[in-house]
Amino acid sequence: MRVCRTRLYRPLFMNRSDYVDPALCWTGCKNIGRSRSLSAIGDHNLIRLKLPLEKVHPMNVPTANWSYPTAIRFGPGRISELADACKAAGMSKPLLVTDKGLADLPITAKALDILETAGLGRAMFSDVDPNPNDKNLEAGIAAFRAGGHDGVIAFGGGSGLDLGKLVAFMAGQTRPVWDFEDIGDWWTRADASAIAPIVAVPTTAGTGSEVGRAGVLTNSTTHVKKIIFHPKILPTITICDPELTVGMPRIITVGTGMDAFAHCLEAYSSPFYHPMSQGIAVEGMRLVKENLPKVVADGNDLEARAHMMSAAAMGAVAFQKGLGAIHSLSHPVGAIYNTHHGMTNAVVMPAVLKLNRPAIEDRIVMAAAYLGISGGFDGFYDFVLKLRSDLGVPDKLSELGIGTDRIDELVEMALADPTAGGNPVELTKENTRVLFEEAIG
Ligand SMILES: NC(=O)c1ccc[n+]([C@@H]2O[C@H](COP(=O)([O-])OP(=O)(O)OC[C@H]3O[C@@H](n4cnc5c(N)ncnc54)[C@H](O)[C@@H]3O)[C@@H](O)[C@H]2O)c1
Ligand SMILES: [Fe+2]
Repeated sequence: MRVCRTRLYRPLFMNRSDYVDPALCWTGCKNIGRSRSLSAIGDHNLIRLKLPLEKVHPMNVPTANWSYPTAIRFGPGRISELADACKAAGMSKPLLVTDKGLADLPITAKALDILETAGLGRAMFSDVDPNPNDKNLEAGIAAFRAGGHDGVIAFGGGSGLDLGKLVAFMAGQTRPVWDFEDIGDWWTRADASAIAPIVAVPTTAGTGSEVGRAGVLTNSTTHVKKIIFHPKILPTITICDPELTVGMPRIITVGTGMDAFAHCLEAYSSPFYHPMSQGIAVEGMRLVKENLPKVVADGNDLEARAHMMSAAAMGAVAFQKGLGAIHSLSHPVGAIYNTHHGMTNAVVMPAVLKLNRPAIEDRIVMAAAYLGISGGFDGFYDFVLKLRSDLGVPDKLSELGIGTDRIDELVEMALADPTAGGNPVELTKENTRVLFEEAIG
């Protein structure tokens, strides 16, 4: 019997009578019998045994099944389980919702092929803009109803994911979507029983919408981005397949990766009490620090792509603790100028760090130590500047075509954004204006 000792991991608190399941081992461990108990392997090997609920792809990329915060099937090639996931979520006629850019890509055609082969049809709705809006939503709901669908596959970056989640949410509601903005208990106004099941498939690694309970929707009349919330739009099953992110254009890899970093940083910095989020946020930052430069240098680095996908999901889990001024500034800029969300976050990040310094210096010093950055807060700030410049992030919003002509409007919208309340330094008209002036340049 061949025993793979170096790659089998298990926490030490594991019940000694548990079995090592060959299906859960790395490639190369296949000869361990299902009935072979750990006690038979021997105590000296237990120390090496951590987490057998994890396999590793031949290219050293982890594959795992997680149930936090929802059921996540994580690993390269797992898009092949799409039809199975839909059936497990109770769908027999799903509508795949994605954005215009993804509609013609091979990864989308492959997903539709998988559905068709399994007898689930190949229905797609893709009239979805970046920073999706209420018109996209109306058209999506009409397609869902006309096709007699019973669930949604939310497929894409944040735009496709959010719009898909909102179609599943709104197709059975009678009230307008704006009644479900993330304010107080507004979500309880919804008929929860009318929400269709959702399977989420991220194709970028940034927003973490695949594990979130909200969708961001732009009001096409007022040009304001609103966060629509309901606990039941947390996807029933999420498939995180890092191979789907390999074809992202470089600029989207950078922007989405910086969005994940911004989620972790803002959650970590927010003043609310949530130690669980705190831990997830700091490890998420580490994953981005280690892996974003790698995926930008080599888009085919699947291991680094996988870690970025984890970091994205972790950012969204962490920001249940709160977001802050990076997002308060970026939401109005994105709504008015249609800039990429994550890239906008990356541009405004240093100005916000400077404003927040008095409130967050202590905890950023701790994060810097964990991340292996010397120099405390200054070291962390310099690291952010260097990361941005290494990745080609513009230094100022003016480089994205934004001027100061609408600054009063931007300030007002930033202060009204729901994320403003999570900033560790209270946002005022004065300091928010200063932030915009500095970020615009
Ligand atoms: N729900 C949330 O919690 C949450 C959090 C943050 C941001 N958002 C929202 O998400 C949206 C931004 O999402 P995003 O940053 O993922 O960008 P995106 O979804 O707008 O995608 C950006 C571009 O990349 C293309 N693309 C996506 N995946 C690709 C792939 N694998 N290969 C090739 N091209 C690909 C898309 O077609 C699109 O043109 C914004 O509307 C933002 O407000 C939501
Ligand atoms: Fe974000």
